[in-house]
Amino acid sequence: MTPTLHIATVGDDAFVPAPVCDTAPTVREQLHRLAPARLREIDAQMTSAPHTLPAPVVGRGIDLTLLDRLTQDLTLDGLPAVIRRSSRARQLGYLGGRLCAETALLDLADRCEVLTAAMTAAMNAAIPIGDGGAPQWPEGVIGSIAHTRDGAWAAVAPGAACARLGIDSEVIVDEAGCRDIVAVCCTPRERRRWFELADPLRATLLFSAKESVYKAIHPQVKRFVDFDEVEMVGIEDLAGTLCLHFRATPEGPLAGRIPALQVHARVVGERVHTAIADLQDRGTT
Ligand SMILES: CC(C)(COP(=O)(O)OP(=O)(O)OC[C@H]1O[C@@H](n2cnc3c(N)ncnc32)[C@H](O)[C@@H]1OP(=O)(O)O)[C@@H](O)C(=O)NCCC(=O)NCCS
Repeated sequence: MTPTLHIATVGDDAFVPAPVCDTAPTVREQLHRLAPARLREIDAQMTSAPHTLPAPVVGRGIDLTLLDRLTQDLTLDGLPAVIRRSSRARQLGYLGGRLCAETALLDLADRCEVLTAAMTAAMNAAIPIGDGGAPQWPEGVIGSIAHTRDGAWAAVAPGAACARLGIDSEVIVDEAGCRDIVAVCCTPRERRRWFELADPLRATLLFSAKESVYKAIHPQVKRFVDFDEVEMVGIEDLAGTLCLHFRATPEGPLAGRIPALQVHARVVGERVHTAIADLQDRGTT
């Protein structure tokens, strides 16, 4: 079904007629048609993602308070129905994540000689919601999206260069949040080894690292992976690196199928940003 696009002129934005198209429009395309000056402003405010991401991974970020201000009077009818029916906060997270992803894909296409013409064309298609909520990336590309209440980020890479990619961002929890993470998201061994004393920063790092792992491995394992199936076996506080491995559990043997994963963490203000980027071939940048 061809999605409809509500057209409006906003302020001094020039009116651009909607094209007839068979595929869902990207968020950038919808904004370009509704309010091109706003899209230019959003582009000007787009930052690099704060996650630790090695080349050729490209990461982008956007402040959701700003995005809210720039889009609150616009109706983007080309969004998935489930998002149009959602709260404004959910819509903003979706919009911000998709905008970051689409912008990162365009940057990747600009930089990366390994992308074929077909892949470059796919860069201009919307990123649908796929299995289990995972974004459905264009063929030949992998990526990951994260958002908090006030920020959204995305990272993308050529699939030929990167086997797994997952990012996550979390606001550092308070003591009650720390207790919840230790109770719900930790294995018995993690509780004994890392949380003899309450440590909200470490708890947030562990939680975020596991969320990054989930996003990174979901395209491969294609099933829900519980928090006790993966275990933190090392943390280098200074280097910001966490090592996680898979435990043998009744749900299925991930141990052996997936190697131990290194998660890189950065703490910026009140937020933690974690990332896994498993490079296959550094020569493809
Ligand atoms: C899916 C999940 C990881 C998302 O994390 P979150 O903190 O709720 O939300 P975030 O803002 O960090 O990330 C949301 C984005 O994750 C992405 N995402 C959702 N499901 C995903 C999946 N199955 N695989 C990869 N990415 C997924 C989406 O892009 C989503 O944003 P969008 O809906 O706007 O596209 C989390 O809700 C979840 O289900 N966790 C339980 C499983 C788990 O973490 N296990 C840990 C052991 S491996």
